[in-house]
Amino acid sequence: MGVIPPILLKSGAVEIAKIMKTISGGNVLDVASGNGDFIVMLIDALKDYESFTGIDSNKKEIKKAKKNLAGKSVKIHLMNAEKLKFDDNKFDFVCLANSLHHLENMNEVLCEIKRVLKPSGYLIIQEMFCDGNQTEAQKTDITSHTLGAEIDNILGIYHQKTYTKKTIIGIIEELNLREFQVYESSRYLKCLFCSSNQQCEDPLNEDLINFAIKEL
Ligand SMILES: C[S@@+](CC[C@H](N)C(=O)[O-])C[C@H]1O[C@@H](n2cnc3c(N)ncnc32)[C@H](O)[C@@H]1O
Repeated sequence: MGVIPPILLKSGAVEIAKIMKTISGGNVLDVASGNGDFIVMLIDALKDYESFTGIDSNKKEIKKAKKNLAGKSVKIHLMNAEKLKFDDNKFDFVCLANSLHHLENMNEVLCEIKRVLKPSGYLIIQEMFCDGNQTEAQKTDITSHTLGAEIDNILGIYHQKTYTKKTIIGIIEELNLREFQVYESSRYLKCLFCSSNQQCEDPLNEDLINFAIKEL
């Protein structure tokens, strides 16, 4: 992980990373894996694992993920999470990262996730939320996300605005899991493993400013 910048150290991400390092992933499924960034992070974050599989319903994201994960032993499939083509109880560890608010038929997807997850398995849901004490950076992220969601909706792409913490916890409670724990971080866990995390502390960093402008 290298030297961790102070803001990242205070974010809550380190606490989550410590817990992740105690977990053997076994057979891992990343649902709505997008460009594969969450899998890249998990490869570093987990104690160990047997296999990684990612699925996404967007062809362009699948192409990006295959490029991003080239050389790594990860299976990537084009698949709708509402109908997972896997046997019951196949996976030890299932993740849904930054995607809850992208799911048009959320209940179907969550039902499928429970079906393919072993009863003793882990389900990791990472989701941004819009309420509570937020840093200025988080507030900016939410504002640009709201704009992104509005643009997607105009284009006919399903995309909800950022949920509140209560809404997310309510969705998880409905799953009737054996137990669940909630952890908060003002920074993404992947920042801990990013080689550029020192530059992110500099608000005048040109790459960051250009990235934000490009996003907008
Ligand atoms: C914001 S991206 C998250 C990507 C990745 N998990 C990450 O954290 O970097 C949301 C993803 O959800 C995918 N998605 C939305 N609905 C889906 C569905 N029904 N089945 C599979 N993927 C879906 C989209 O294609 C998109 O790649």
